[in-house]
Amino acid sequence: MSDALENLLSETRRFAPPAELAAHANVTSDAQPEDRLAFWETQARRLSWAKDWDQTLDWSNPPFAKWFVGGELNVAYNCLDRHVEAGLGDRVAIHWEGEPGDTRTITYSDLLSEVKQAANALTDLGVGQGDRVAIYLPMIPEAAVAMLATARIGATHSVVFGGFSVDALSGRIQDADAKLVITADGGYRRGAPSALKPTVDEAVALCPGIEHVLVVRRTGQEVAWTDKDLWWHETVAKASTEHTAQAFDAENPLFILYTSGTTAKPKGILHTTGGYLTQASYTHHAVFDLKPETDVYWCTADIGWVTGHSYIVYGPLSNGATQVMYEGTPDTPHRGRFWEIVQKYKVTILYTAPTAIRTFMKWGDDIPAGFDLSSLRILGSVGEPINPEAWMWYREHIGANNCPIVDTWWQTETGAMMLSPLPGVTHTKPGSAMSPLPGIAADVVDDQGNSVPNGGGGYLVLREPWPSMLRTIWGDDARYLETYWSRFGDMYFAGDGAKKDEDGNIWLLGRVDDVMLVSGHNISTTEVESALVSHPDVAEAAVVGATDPTTGQAIVAFVILRGGVESDVDVLRNHVSKTLGPICKPRQIMIVPELPKTRSGKIMRRLLRDVAENRTLGDVTTLQDSSIMSLISSGMQSSK
Ligand code: WT7
Repeated sequence: MSDALENLLSETRRFAPPAELAAHANVTSDAQPEDRLAFWETQARRLSWAKDWDQTLDWSNPPFAKWFVGGELNVAYNCLDRHVEAGLGDRVAIHWEGEPGDTRTITYSDLLSEVKQAANALTDLGVGQGDRVAIYLPMIPEAAVAMLATARIGATHSVVFGGFSVDALSGRIQDADAKLVITADGGYRRGAPSALKPTVDEAVALCPGIEHVLVVRRTGQEVAWTDKDLWWHETVAKASTEHTAQAFDAENPLFILYTSGTTAKPKGILHTTGGYLTQASYTHHAVFDLKPETDVYWCTADIGWVTGHSYIVYGPLSNGATQVMYEGTPDTPHRGRFWEIVQKYKVTILYTAPTAIRTFMKWGDDIPAGFDLSSLRILGSVGEPINPEAWMWYREHIGANNCPIVDTWWQTETGAMMLSPLPGVTHTKPGSAMSPLPGIAADVVDDQGNSVPNGGGGYLVLREPWPSMLRTIWGDDARYLETYWSRFGDMYFAGDGAKKDEDGNIWLLGRVDDVMLVSGHNISTTEVESALVSHPDVAEAAVVGATDPTTGQAIVAFVILRGGVESDVDVLRNHVSKTLGPICKPRQIMIVPELPKTRSGKIMRRLLRDVAENRTLGDVTTLQDSSIMSLISSGMQSSK
């Protein structure tokens, strides 16, 4: 993938950490430790262990890792009890904001007693270590309570995003062989109650292994009732608030989370306890420079994604953070809702996704300008490569040019952040995830697995095991080996393209399946998209390679314009040509109102390729809004 590289890397902007932040930063060096295992032992000591480990890493049967072998701890104890025992029970754990504007303030003491009650209720329902619990909830505090209660009794949770269908839910319940589902009547979505229980009823009818369904009352809407159903507020509220957390083995399974497969059967990514919590906790402390006494942290992800697991539940709570949790969408009841929340709770650390940032750019600069965002001190990004122009917009319009941006690269499989700037250390470059975090051995290699020199491009790999790595794919060791460890033998293959710049900093180029081959040149979709977004008229762009009789593949771009502007597609084509070189000039640019995205906000280029090649659309079931495809296709026909 080296051909297009010479044209790129023109980025010269650099941003040093604010002096004040650097002077008091939690982490003051990004140097790799000489002894990686000793480094992770030190980080593991940030947690409270009931029994010390005998061995830091057992890698005798690669790629099946065991971390902190023989150690014992309780995850919920580490997230709750120990803070309350340290006298911090009155600290707010969660400022919860419902979409309709209802709120709840939950202290660490409150959260602990609710988790103890829920743990007792689960035990009474026959759930224990070795069992799986499916969680299908909106963004309400009970989602965190359900996860922590499951962890507290040594059982394993499988959270399924509340937007998924009957098929997705029943498939995940069956694959994990769960015996309990925790759900709600519904949740608020775009100003209206949206039902969850009917989906669960249909799914449970297909899953004879489910013994009980525990139902939180959120919206108060009518629900059908079966003899497996129990109300949360009756069952949990009746349970005792006394519960002593028992310690479990460091490799006890904590959760299974299914990656949102767009093609094949979803993979149940398995994470365990000691190593996972160590890295989730350390990275949250290091990358967000969390000061638990003064910071107000807000991660806008849904708990149904790994970001919600590691950076709403386990990372922040293990660090005693005060955080905001928001139920709804960014445009309900108005497009300033996020900024209103930042202003109201004086949020200091904000963690969101490029897709959201580009949407805010599209909505216009004047919206965030109408709110007081001066409490912010650190901004995070995750989920996709962030285009340099979106990065600059985030820095300027949200961060008032004085908040470091931490662009964190990681995956469901890695469990926690792997590459990121450190806010008190790194001189950031817009669009780059920069460097592996301390203790992480990442590299970019060529087809043969050789490390590429600075200036070169290839595949992102991880050379050494890390504490929060997936342990396997649930029930399918062979697929674990095949997917991640067959390509380069002893290195983990992440599936992302990447390049190293002249300083050795790493730039992510998107999934390797998204690389285009145009007249024999490898061109990354991410780079053409970033070139388009760097034009002032463009808010968002998605690029695909469509079969072309002369060039093999040709670049077809789908573009959303910024609010209120009109643009000439030839101007945009020439802009790309000027920015990246003539080989990268799109054959065709479509102006569209929306882009097809998965529910986690990733662009589904596969469907756009179908449109660009005039094919019938493939599977659209993971799309957030399936009507978008007909809008795009009809626009495509009329422009020809
Ligand atoms: C894939 C993993 C990590 C939590 C959310 C997504 C892409 C993620 C970045 C980033 C460039 C990124 C990669 C990765 N990705 N963060 N900062 N820069 N790309 O978790 O659903 O498992 O997706 O998301 O392609 O492989 P996921």
